[in-house]
Amino acid sequence: NLKIVTIGGGSSYTPELIEGFIKRKDELPIKELWLVDIEAGREKLEIVGALAKRMVKAAGLDWDVHLTLDRREALKDADFVSTQLRVGLLDARIKDERIPLSHGIIGQETNGAGGMFKAFRTIPVILDIVEDMKELCPKAWLVNFTNPSGMVTEAVIRYGNWDKVVGLCNVPIMCSKIAAGALKDKEEDLFFRFGGLNHFHWHRVWDKSGEEKTKDVIEAAYTSPEAMVKALEGIMSPINPNNNIDEDVEQKAGVQNIPNIGFLADQVRNLGIIPCMYHRYYYITDDMLKEELEAFEKGETRAEVVKRTEAELFELYKDPNLSIKPPQLAKRGGAYYSDAACELITSIYNDKRSHMVVSTKNNGAISDLPDDVVVEVSSIITSNGPVPLSWGSFDSSSRGLLQHMKDMELTTIKAAVTGDYSTALQAFTINPLVPSGKIAQTILDEMLVAHKEYLPQF
Ligand code: NAD
Ligand code: G6P
Ligand code: MN
Repeated sequence: NLKIVTIGGGSSYTPELIEGFIKRKDELPIKELWLVDIEAGREKLEIVGALAKRMVKAAGLDWDVHLTLDRREALKDADFVSTQLRVGLLDARIKDERIPLSHGIIGQETNGAGGMFKAFRTIPVILDIVEDMKELCPKAWLVNFTNPSGMVTEAVIRYGNWDKVVGLCNVPIMCSKIAAGALKDKEEDLFFRFGGLNHFHWHRVWDKSGEEKTKDVIEAAYTSPEAMVKALEGIMSPINPNNNIDEDVEQKAGVQNIPNIGFLADQVRNLGIIPCMYHRYYYITDDMLKEELEAFEKGETRAEVVKRTEAELFELYKDPNLSIKPPQLAKRGGAYYSDAACELITSIYNDKRSHMVVSTKNNGAISDLPDDVVVEVSSIITSNGPVPLSWGSFDSSSRGLLQHMKDMELTTIKAAVTGDYSTALQAFTINPLVPSGKIAQTILDEMLVAHKEYLPQF
């Protein structure tokens, strides 16, 4: 009889998670679901928690759904703990995006200066959660969604000394769907291998006969924005699972938060492996920045758009007659994330040995990186956690960039844990999306002040 705890339960994504558990009701003997939040999220928790209760009841299940602001009460004897919290809520994300943009550099919640600050705010909180888990549920698995998911997972292992953690993301799921759409093949008939870091991975794909189709996917989906739209038409739309796209919602690059701006066709062809949506920030920084600056001028950065979407969603959630996940949730970028979370949990619990892409310790999977760093790779999920599949080594076109990004992550995590100013400045200096020198220091200083309330370590 399982006790599952979700920290950050007041998230507007929670109905997606509940739907994922309901779908797997025959595999998971759930007894208790605990949704945990903090005072600032109380109202959200109450609204979305009431919907979660209605969803469970409408599915004919007798699970006890508990809502609480007492994390320790929730963690007691938990089997699985998932985290989807956002320290500082969306107002902090607005600062993560707007402050860098006000200095003319990329403002994004998991990349560049914004992503580093999200790590600075989140890592102390996740390490506290781990300390509670050591005491209250030492056998539980931590299923982390909190971004930056790879860095947060690495911090848990490296500084929390807690190995029973898996980092998740929905991007690999969307990448697999795009490949299936591009090849007009069934997703389950394709074989994928992913390698890299969270929001910075590449993949290769083979068909049922064993033939590698990587180049075909690049050609059919990644050489122009039109090609991407065409590949996406071939798949179930994330906007509406019945594949009739809501007219007022534009189809983006697979995830709703990233615009479908074209890669440089010659550059992606030369890579020979398929980039993820987030590689746009690194490969076509100029185009991405231009798009972001336009949104910035209009007061429509992604965080600002999401804030409005969130308000709409909570209005819908208040309806006492609603007892399903409303389709409007697909306006958020995290579509399918419950497939990752819930499949991971059932795979560990039932030793299903599912093939999933997760953030876990490298252990030799990528030979260009040390064994003990966290990477995002294809893995087999056993009752003892993920066993990563071998990716091998990268070509010179990706290898250095990958190693550089891993070192940037390690430096960022070290700054988050120690609160050391010069380490934070170092992380800013080496991040490819932040120019070095006085501008790095200026942005760092401004963000330290803006987020002061959530940065007790600095
Ligand atoms: P949100 O702003 O709604 O925050 C979720 C909840 O966390 C809020 O109700 C908030 O009150 C709560 N919270 C904040 N600090 C907390 C703390 N210390 N303890 C407990 N709860 C706390 O955020 P959201 O937009 O729903 O996103 C939630 C998180 O999930 C973010 O970190 C986001 O980046 C991440 N996310 C990740 C993926 C992925 O692919 N890994 C997908 C979707 C969302
Ligand atoms: C993608 C990413 C997530 C990210 C989300 C943002 O799904 O994988 O890590 O949190 O998009 O979506 P949002 O709707 O918050 O912009
Ligand atoms: Mn993600």
